Amino acid sequence: MKKESKAGGPVFGNSRLTKMPFGGDYNPEQWPEEIWEEDMRLFRLAGVDCVTLNVFSWASLQPAEDVYSFEKLDRIMDLVKKNGLSVILATSTAAHPAWMARKYPEVLRTEFSGLRRKFGSRHNSCPNSMVYRKYSRLLAGKLAERYKDFPNLIAWHVNNEYGGACYCENCEKAFRVWLQEKYGSLEALNRAWNTGFWGHTVYDWEEIVVPNLQSEHFEENRTTFQGISLDYRRFCSDSLLENYREEQAAIKEITPDIPVTTNLMGFYKPLDYQKWAREMDFVSWDNYPPNEASAASIAMQHDLMRGIGGGRPFVLMEQTPSVTNWLPYNALKRPGVMRLLSWQAVAHGADAVLFFQMRRSIGACEKYHGALIDHVGTEHTRVFWEMQALGRELKQMGSQTMGSRTPAKAAILVDWDNWWALEYSAGPSCDLKYLDEVERYYTAFHELNIPVDFISTEDLLGSYRIVVAPVLYMVKTGYEEVLKQFVEEGGCLVTTFFSGIVEEHDLVVTGGYPGRLRGLLGVWVEESDALPEGAQNGFTWRGKHYPSELLCDIMHLETAGGEAVYESDFYAGSPVLARNAYGKGTAWYVATRSSREFYRDLVKVLARENEVREIWTPVAGVEICERRNENGRFFFFLNHGNEEAELTMEQDAVRLLEGRLYKKGEKLVLKGKDVTVCLV
Ligand code: GLA
Ligand code: ZN
Repeated sequence: MKKESKAGGPVFGNSRLTKMPFGGDYNPEQWPEEIWEEDMRLFRLAGVDCVTLNVFSWASLQPAEDVYSFEKLDRIMDLVKKNGLSVILATSTAAHPAWMARKYPEVLRTEFSGLRRKFGSRHNSCPNSMVYRKYSRLLAGKLAERYKDFPNLIAWHVNNEYGGACYCENCEKAFRVWLQEKYGSLEALNRAWNTGFWGHTVYDWEEIVVPNLQSEHFEENRTTFQGISLDYRRFCSDSLLENYREEQAAIKEITPDIPVTTNLMGFYKPLDYQKWAREMDFVSWDNYPPNEASAASIAMQHDLMRGIGGGRPFVLMEQTPSVTNWLPYNALKRPGVMRLLSWQAVAHGADAVLFFQMRRSIGACEKYHGALIDHVGTEHTRVFWEMQALGRELKQMGSQTMGSRTPAKAAILVDWDNWWALEYSAGPSCDLKYLDEVERYYTAFHELNIPVDFISTEDLLGSYRIVVAPVLYMVKTGYEEVLKQFVEEGGCLVTTFFSGIVEEHDLVVTGGYPGRLRGLLGVWVEESDALPEGAQNGFTWRGKHYPSELLCDIMHLETAGGEAVYESDFYAGSPVLARNAYGKGTAWYVATRSSREFYRDLVKVLARENEVREIWTPVAGVEICERRNENGRFFFFLNHGNEEAELTMEQDAVRLLEGRLYKKGEKLVLKGKDVTVCLV
């Protein structure tokens, strides 16, 4: 069982939706009112039935400190109501108005370099400015008051893509308070930060300064004191979360039954989304994969978003219909790709397919960003036709997949504290990146059609047979017991090189690596060799040869059995892969990084030994996912390749988009980039 952040009801609360919402960010306030009716005509034509409004309107809603003006938004809300569109209403607090920055410079952020910003851009407010917090709360409350009876309001969208960090004096002061609450005493803080090193003893709370380029850092990701830098990351994530919570509370006071969210960004390092999701009514996120992104790398982000929400469906809040404007090369999404990526989101748990944006703007940095309605202003474009076709399909699908879940028996542990600490670690290799290692394991499961959940250190493990914890560098006090219990009761745990090194303060656990996991893994790691880019060692496992790169842990087997040994260098012949029987289960230690083929073969062995089955026989280039609910089992077949692919039906199934029955054994042919959804 996974811990659920909220009861498992539908994403959009009580709204009686008969299909997945389709549409997205719509900014009519940036356009003359004459074209609004034309927008409505085009929305009808495309099948758009949901808009996100008011994302960046603070300047017009509050043109001066004591003046609020909702008349324009009233007209927009009336217009969309008349046209039967559902609304996700944003609070507009992701960009403060110019008068506020001028009158209260404390709302402006200070950069990592120490440079104080002036008015400009967006996502630019200091999260610890009392002025910003007061006015954002007030605005959220006023919007809720004004639109509480609006029948088409299906969700609130607080702020927009929270992110970044601030290093100003407000933040410095708030950081000291946060630390006092966390540590209680300076002795505890000095211990946790190991300030005896380089004589950094803190004698008074006021001596603590923010860790940035002016103090402990020499680069954004390189610090001389990991303890303070790690705490600052936690503090920044918490500060922005507090902003979210305050707006959410102001809204909930007035509309307690309308769900509240904010749009997240997948694997976004600065914010501990696992902590965030516990506060949100449902998870929503923005998917902007680079053009060369693999299917697995996109799938992995969707699965993370499903995972942080406790396995519940999420909302795809934004994606581009065609291009972005902010990549070095903004290539077009090829014909069929927008549809493919939309269904991929649904396949991994989305219950809404939304876009940025509905009409392409004429000025500022997003004027060349893709939109449903292009600068030409008509429906006669490729992008419009593709959107229209998707709109039809989503209508045809109705609500049957909504609320369905992914049946995963394997999980990958992801932990933001571990991510932060690992990448601040100052050794052993600058190439060691947490997500790279996570992605290697994820890709193996993905290629084998074995569904995976992403879990946090707060989740229960009992419903899984396999848990992989790549580079579990930080084992928080007590978490070793959770892992031991999981394996004792029959689970299979896999962890890797550079694991079990530190506790939650990033202090090394002495007595031999992997620290508190030593008994569970049955190995003692004595040293770790970093191989420069391109350098390799190697090993042979079950008759096959594999490379070894990045890091080579040199270990001694205690209770574990060795599965393979290094083939060269002074540690040739010492174990590289260990397998420990522990209670009713097994714990594996993979002491190096290897190839895609190795991870695939390892996962195959794990799956076989633990009776975790693929949901469908793998077909090259075709992603296959399953979601289940009371309507049945939905299989999504997504051909990411450009060539035709052929599948054999493994059960009788109805192809929902084509309305056709397929018998077991029949061939199903999918053209390049094509998608089909089957109900079994
Ligand atoms: C983000 C934002 C949107 C827009 C898009 C453009 O996702 O939330 O406001 O800027 O990027 O890609
Ligand atoms: Zn600040």
